[in-house]
Amino acid sequence: METIPTKAKVSRAREKERMATSFFILMLLLLLHLFPVKSQNPPAAAALYVFGDSLSDSGNNNNRLTTARANYLPYGVDFVGGTTGRFTNGKTFVDFAAETLGLPYVPAYFSLSRRQRAKTGTGVNYASGSAGILNKTGRRLGRCVTLREQISKFSMTVRRDLPKMFPGPLLSDHLSRSIFFVSIGSNDYINNYLQPDYYYKRRRRPTPQAFAQKLVDALETHMQRLYYLGARKIVMFDIGPIGCIPNNTNTTPMMGQCVEEINNFVVEFNNRFFPLVQRLNVTLRGSNFVPGQTYPVSQNIYKNAPSYGLALTNVPCCPTYGDGIGPCKPEQQPCPDRGKHMYWDSYHPTEVTNSLMARACFWQTPSQCFPPDTTIQQLARL
Ligand SMILES: *[C@@H]1O[C@H](CO)[C@@H](O)[C@H](O)[C@H]1NC(C)=O
Ligand SMILES: *[C@@H]1O[C@H](CO)[C@@H](O)[C@H](O)[C@H]1NC(C)=O
Ligand SMILES: *[C@@H]1O[C@H](CO)[C@@H](O)[C@H](O)[C@H]1NC(C)=O
Repeated sequence: METIPTKAKVSRAREKERMATSFFILMLLLLLHLFPVKSQNPPAAAALYVFGDSLSDSGNNNNRLTTARANYLPYGVDFVGGTTGRFTNGKTFVDFAAETLGLPYVPAYFSLSRRQRAKTGTGVNYASGSAGILNKTGRRLGRCVTLREQISKFSMTVRRDLPKMFPGPLLSDHLSRSIFFVSIGSNDYINNYLQPDYYYKRRRRPTPQAFAQKLVDALETHMQRLYYLGARKIVMFDIGPIGCIPNNTNTTPMMGQCVEEINNFVVEFNNRFFPLVQRLNVTLRGSNFVPGQTYPVSQNIYKNAPSYGLALTNVPCCPTYGDGIGPCKPEQQPCPDRGKHMYWDSYHPTEVTNSLMARACFWQTPSQCFPPDTTIQQLARL
C-alpha cells in the first residue's frame, strides 16, 4: 500500500537525491582527474608534425637499410596497432602528446602512400631511428632520415600535399595553428660523439663544449628552415640522461650505475639549449618556441624508480642482443611485468616510463617540463 508522502519526506528524499548526485559528480570529477580520458572535444591543435629520432619514430625506418629498426615483435606488443616500427612496447611520448591534444596518432611519412599524404591533414611524423642533428649521425647503423632530410620531406608536404586540403591562405593558417614537436640529439652522442674511433679517427676529437656548440649551431639552422616553411608553434626538447640507458649502465665497470661522464656531455648541450630556444623565439617574428626540459624529469624517475612502481631501472624488458646492451631479439617473449621496467630495450623506455614523462610534461600543473604557465594545450590555443 502506498502512503501519501508528506512534505518533509519529499524534501528529505530530494535532499538525499541531491547528495547522491553531487557525490556521483564528485567521484566522476575525481576519476576524470585520476584517469584523464580521451576527450570528445575538437582537437586543441590543427595538426602535430613530428621531427626526431627513435624516441618518436612511428615506422619511418621500416623499409630502410639499417639495423635501427623496430618492425618486429616484441616491439609494439602492447600497442593498439601492433608492431608499427615504434621502438617500445606500446605508446611513445609523442603518442601521449597526440592524445593530449585530441589528435590521432601521427602516421609515419614513409608509411603513407602519395594519395594518403594528400589526405592527411592532422599531422605527419618524419622522425627516424638513429637520426641526429648532424648529417653523419647514425650512419654507422645504416640509412636513416637525417633531420635535414626530415625537414626536406616536410617541405614536400607543404608544397605538394597540404595545398590540396588547405588551398591559398588556408595553408599558412593551418601551419600556424599546428604544433611542431622536435626531439633530437641523443644519437649525436650515442651514435656519433661516443664512437670516436668511427668518426674522429683522423681528426682531433672536439671537446664536449665545442661539440655541444656545434650541435646547437646546426639545430638553430634547422629550426630557422622549419620556421620559414611556416612552422610557428614549436616545442623543442632537450636531451635526456643517456648515461643512464642500459647500454651504458650494463657496461663494465659501470655495472648498474649511470655513466656520469656521458651525462655531463649531454648537460653541455642542455646548458646551450635553453638560450638557443629563447634566441629563436626572439629572432623569428611571430614564432612561439617552447623549451621542453625532460632531463631532470627522467633523472628523477630513475633515482626514485620504486616510488613510481619501477623495480628495474637497468634491466631491459625484452631479451636483448648482447645481454642488456643491444636491441630486442626478434620473436622473444618479453617480461610479463612490463610496468616494473623503466627500459624496454637497451636504449628506449617502456610505455609506462613514457606515460610518466607525459604526466610530468603534459598532464601535471604546473608542468615539470615547460616554463611556468605553459602547457601544450595552452600553446595550441595561442
Ligand atoms: C649537411 O648536408 C647538406 C647537403 O649535403 C649540406 O648542405 C649541409 O651543409 C650539411 N650540414 C652540415 C652541418 O654539415
Ligand atoms: C652499447 O654498448 C656496447 C658495449 O659498451 C658498445 O660496444 C656499443 O657500441 C653500444 N651501442 C651503442 C649504440 O652505443
Ligand atoms: C617567446 O616569446 C613570447 C612572446 O612573443 C613570450 O611570451 C614567451 O615567453 C617567449 N618564450 C620563451 C621561451 O622565451
